[in-house]
Amino acid sequence: MSADRVTGGVRQIDEVGGNRGLDVMSVDFEPRIVGFLCNWCSHSTAEGMTGAARRPPPPSIRVIKVTCTGRVDPLFIITAYLRGADGVLVTGCWPGQCHYKEGNYHARRRVALVKNIFETLGLDADRLHIEWASDSEGRYFAEIATEFDRRIQQQGPNATRSEVFC
Ligand code: FES
Repeated sequence: MSADRVTGGVRQIDEVGGNRGLDVMSVDFEPRIVGFLCNWCSHSTAEGMTGAARRPPPPSIRVIKVTCTGRVDPLFIITAYLRGADGVLVTGCWPGQCHYKEGNYHARRRVALVKNIFETLGLDADRLHIEWASDSEGRYFAEIATEFDRRIQQQGPNATRSEVFC
């Protein structure tokens, strides 16, 4: 899909006053999802290095490897969203299994905080998601990523991109 088509779709969404996209857009819409993946679990799974499934995440996921989800600053998420990401996915080690003890707990609170900020500003908080998957749960991680990709496709393009930069 060309950028023009995406932009045209965003304008169409603006005309009806919505921020969640239109069903007609989901036919051709190819989401851009930024995935902050913990190095110790979901990143290696996404790379296909571990996990029995060896099933890659959808191509819409632009992977950013982080040492721990605790490293994901709220500004990383907000910046990704404002620069046009249609969704932001954060995945890390299961609670109690973080290699830095509490990084994933911090990440969970930060994502909740950013969702609250989005809701306060009238932005679509459903475009943010945090989930857990170990390095041996390749199939489960693929399911998480595929389901999030499907959800974002239903929501359509991130209209904020158009509002901020056009
Ligand atoms: Fe994986 Fe902290 S090391 S979430």
